[in-house]
Amino acid sequence: MKVGIVGSGFVGSTAAYALVMQGIGREIVMVDLDDARAAAEADDLFHAVPFSHPLTLRAGNYSDLADSHVVIVAAGINQRPGESRLKLLQRNAQVFRDVIPKIVEHAPHAVLIIATNPVDIMTHLAGEFALACGVPTNRVVGSGTMLDTARFRTLLGMHFGVDSHHVHGYVVGEHGDSEVLSWSLATIACLSLEEYGEQRGVELNDASRAEIDDQVRRAAYRIIKGKGATYYGIGSALAQLVDVVLHDQRSILTVCSRIEGMDGLPDVTISMPHLLGGEGVIAPVPLDLSEDESSALKRSAGIIRDAIDSIGL
Ligand code: 2OP
Repeated sequence: MKVGIVGSGFVGSTAAYALVMQGIGREIVMVDLDDARAAAEADDLFHAVPFSHPLTLRAGNYSDLADSHVVIVAAGINQRPGESRLKLLQRNAQVFRDVIPKIVEHAPHAVLIIATNPVDIMTHLAGEFALACGVPTNRVVGSGTMLDTARFRTLLGMHFGVDSHHVHGYVVGEHGDSEVLSWSLATIACLSLEEYGEQRGVELNDASRAEIDDQVRRAAYRIIKGKGATYYGIGSALAQLVDVVLHDQRSILTVCSRIEGMDGLPDVTISMPHLLGGEGVIAPVPLDLSEDESSALKRSAGIIRDAIDSIGL
């Protein structure tokens, strides 16, 4: 039940906090290029442990990742206000070239959970670098559109006045500007949104759809403008992913993984619902999207593919 976290910035540290507060894992090791930062975060976080569940938490170096079951990779540089996730690419690709082989050297059996943005492309790169060191692609998973899906479900729940746990609907594609909200497949209590709305007397008109779409798609831009970074949502999503892997939970989550030639998509790393367990990805789950959503997904996949090609692996 050992979890490594590489990158002790806001995202890595908040993921650690979420793990501590939920008692997920028994041992957490935090690694950062900046040793002093990792040590300070680990100390601070360790002082939350007596108020939560027993586990050990410390800073370390790459060799301390040995025997980790899961390693979260949150290393890299964040978006600046107004900057798209894709702009980060060149800067963070270089970081991964260095970091991924070191993680795999010391924790060759771990599932790697990638959080660094642009996460689809960074997961693709991590997959390539890990594969070169003998790690199969299913063991490299990106947080993808987990957060967007959570934002979508929450906003739908608020609109219809129902707990978002009972709203099913996915955001797929790029974790970014071209993502696709699968309105046509969203359900509440097994009813389509239109049917549920009719039963409850709640209208879902074009204006409210556009508002929800904007709130999902532009959420990170607004938060980054206001406070410089997002970390609570993603930290919680990462903790859920770690839990799923440690307990072989067989959950269906919209993570990103490498999908080769599904539904006419190019060979690309993209978010779709995936069945996940102790070894990472078990299988992607294809969706029967509407024609418009399906074309938008292909467009999104093309954008990611072009970005991957632009790095020239
Ligand atoms: C988010 O969506 C910035 O990707 C991060 O919160």
